[in-house]
Amino acid sequence: ETFDATGLHILPGAIDVHVHFRDPGYTHKEDFESGTAAAAFGGVTTVFDMPNTIPTVADGETLKVKHAIAASKAHVDYGLYAVLGEDTIDKVPELIEAGIIGFKCYMGNTFGRIPTPSTGAMLEAFEMVAPTGKRISLHAETNSVMERRQKRLTESGRTDPLAHLASRPAVVAVEAVARAAILAEWTGARIHILHISSAAELGPLRDAKARGVDITGETCPHYLMLGEADYARCRGIIRVNPPVRESVNNEPLWAGLLDGTIDMIATDHAPHTPEEKTRADIWSVDCGFPGVETQMPLMLTEVAAGRYDIRDYVRWSAVNPAKVWGLYPKKGAILPGADADLAFVDLDHAWTLRDADLQSRSKISPWDGRKVVGLPRHTMVRGRFVMKDRALVADTKGHGRSVHAIQQMPEARPLHTDETLSAVTADRPEVAA
Ligand code: NCD
Ligand code: ZN
Ligand code: ZN
Repeated sequence: ETFDATGLHILPGAIDVHVHFRDPGYTHKEDFESGTAAAAFGGVTTVFDMPNTIPTVADGETLKVKHAIAASKAHVDYGLYAVLGEDTIDKVPELIEAGIIGFKCYMGNTFGRIPTPSTGAMLEAFEMVAPTGKRISLHAETNSVMERRQKRLTESGRTDPLAHLASRPAVVAVEAVARAAILAEWTGARIHILHISSAAELGPLRDAKARGVDITGETCPHYLMLGEADYARCRGIIRVNPPVRESVNNEPLWAGLLDGTIDMIATDHAPHTPEEKTRADIWSVDCGFPGVETQMPLMLTEVAAGRYDIRDYVRWSAVNPAKVWGLYPKKGAILPGADADLAFVDLDHAWTLRDADLQSRSKISPWDGRKVVGLPRHTMVRGRFVMKDRALVADTKGHGRSVHAIQQMPEARPLHTDETLSAVTADRPEVAA
C-alpha cells in the first residue's frame, strides 16, 4: 500500500488537555468511541478526559471502570482526570495507583454539580498532591455572583440569553485564579488554569508565574473568537461555563498566547444534545458545546490569515501540553509527535464547518457555517492511521492507550515555608520534609 502526502504539512497531533467524553453516565451526549472519533477528525491524537461523569471519578474503583471503558473504545490516546474534593485527600494514593494524568478541582459549580471544596480542603489537597508531582487543573470560577444575579433576573422575568453573560463578571474568575495560585505557591503544587475566558485573569496568572509558581493556563477557541454579538445569533447554544465574554477580551487573550502567559489551546469539548441546548429557559440549558474536532481548523485559519506562525500553533497545541504534563515518548526527550502521533494537514484547504458533519454525538455548536482554512486530512496515532481521507480507519477502536504510563513528573516543592506551614504539616513528614 502506498501513501501520498504531497502538498500536506505533517504536524504533531494536537494534545487536547480538556475534553468531556461523558462516559460512563451521559453516553447519550457522547462516549469514548464517538468522542475519540471526533478527536481523530480534528487532528487530535491525545485527549485528557474530565471526571464529571457518573459516578464522579474520585476513587480508584470508579477510575478502573473508566479505564476499562476507554481502553475498549478509544481511537486516540487519552489521559484520565480524577477529582479533588472536600473530603477525598485519602483517595489521592489509590487514584495515582490506578493511573491518572492529573487532578481536577472544581472551585465553582458547573455541569455535573460537583461540590466545591473549601479553601481549607484545597490547601490540604494541594499539600497532599505536591510531592506526587501531579498537576491540579482548576475550574477557577466561583458562582456566588452568578447565583445572586440569576435569582434577581429570574424574579424580574428576564429570559434574554445575554443574561448569562451579564451574570458572570470576570472578577469571580480573577479571584479564583489568584486564590489557587497562592495555595500553589505555599504548597508547591503544580496547577493549571482551565478555560481562561477574560483579559482580567491574565494579571494574576502573570504575577504568579513571576513569583515562580508552577502555573500554566489554557484558553479555548470560543474565548478568542466569539463575543457578545454571538449571543443573539446562537441563543442557548453559546451557553458555556465560563461564559463567552465581551469581545474586548479577544485581542488580549490572543496577546496572552503570543507572549506566553497562556500556554496552550484546549477545547473544553462539552457535548450536549440539541434538545438540551435549545430549551426555552436560558438557565436550564446545559452548558458547553463540542470543540475537539473544530479547534485545529479554527486555529489554522488564523495561520492562513497571518496572525501567527504555524510553529506558534504547534507550541500551543502539542509542545506545551506535552511539556506541562511530562509526556515523554522516550525517557528524557520532549518531542511531541516523536512516537508518530501525527496530523497530516492541508493548510490551504478552505471549507465551511457544519454541525451536521460532526463526529461528536452533539451536533450543535456555535461554529455552524463558519468559514475556515486548514483541514486535517489524515491522523496517525503511534504509527497507525486512525483517520484517513476524512474517514475513520476500520479496526482502530481500542487502539488508544492511556498516556499516564509515559508521564514523568518530578516531585514538586513549595517556594517557601514558614512557621504556619510547618505547624500545619508537622504531622505529615512527607509534606514537611
Ligand atoms: C462543562 C461540561 O459540560 O462538562 N461545561 C462547560 O460549560 N464548560 C463543564 C466545565 O468545563 O465547566
Ligand atoms: Zn470547567
Ligand atoms: Zn470542561
